[in-house]
Amino acid sequence: MKKIAILTSGGDSQGMNTAVRAVAKTAMSKGMEVFGIKRGYKGMLEDQIFQMSALDVSGIADHGGTILLSARLSSFKDPEVRAKAAENLKKRGIEGLVVIGGDGSFHGAHYLYEEHGIKTIGIPGTIDNDIAGTDYTIGYDTALNIILDAISKLKDTATSHERTYLIEVMGRNCGDLALYAAIAGGASGVMIPEVKASTDDIAKVIRERRAEGKLYDIIVVAEGAGNILDIEKELAQKIDTDIRVTILGHVQRGGAPTANDRILATKLGVKAVELLIDGEAGLMVGMESGKVTTHKLSYAWENYSKSSEEDYKIATMLSL
Ligand code: F6P
Repeated sequence: MKKIAILTSGGDSQGMNTAVRAVAKTAMSKGMEVFGIKRGYKGMLEDQIFQMSALDVSGIADHGGTILLSARLSSFKDPEVRAKAAENLKKRGIEGLVVIGGDGSFHGAHYLYEEHGIKTIGIPGTIDNDIAGTDYTIGYDTALNIILDAISKLKDTATSHERTYLIEVMGRNCGDLALYAAIAGGASGVMIPEVKASTDDIAKVIRERRAEGKLYDIIVVAEGAGNILDIEKELAQKIDTDIRVTILGHVQRGGAPTANDRILATKLGVKAVELLIDGEAGLMVGMESGKVTTHKLSYAWENYSKSSEEDYKIATMLSL
């Protein structure tokens, strides 16, 4: 394989640049020509494709965001749109494509391979950690640490004012960011989409904590668990303490990737190119139990399993 392309797609995540760098540098070191596609599948469709030099990826391992820019293109579900986009690779003789993104991006990569023979490899890049075939997605660790930093700051002010803080975190339909932030941040409660928790349960814990003399409560709410303002209203009827809501938002997707995310992104990026060199395609790479593994792209969404109920029990057991 002489020419490959790279794109980043969907919500950006910290470590995408690190992965782009690893893919580009590995491929260049093997004598390949490397093309960058701007704005994900949108740029592929609109022919925003350029040849990358080593300089393009120099010094970006620690940069948040993505130098290739990212976008969501819902029309990529249309086979005709995919055919037009694939043509832009074929006319340049680009045979391989590394797609860095979440499960929507993996669907696109899957169809490009199945329908047009583009040799695609997916690298899981999303803060949501909602992809099977890898223990962690690139960006998840960094986002988790951003949430922990926020929890620790909120604890200070919550304590001074003896308040209950509800903090909404991202994750789409996946509760991992909320659950593990609650465990690592010593939260007083957590609400995730995978496990039904009522405001009655949360209110009970808060009352017990206050009866023990505790001065604050931090409740982590996954965005997929329900509307945080409705939760606040419901809770306000059940407890006496003052409540404040913090929606952390896109700050969770920015900043320098953690060491873990950089190492993960680098190892997966290198492996993606090795697979293409070996003639493999239609696969995703992941890290499972400390080993780099590969699965069919469809494995990512067909085998996705929800947040661990056991870990949810740990979080609630320690909330008092
Ligand atoms: O998938 C990543 C993610 O950050 C989700 O956690 C969140 O629900 C969504 O993207 C936000 O999307 P947007 O950046 O388009 O607002």
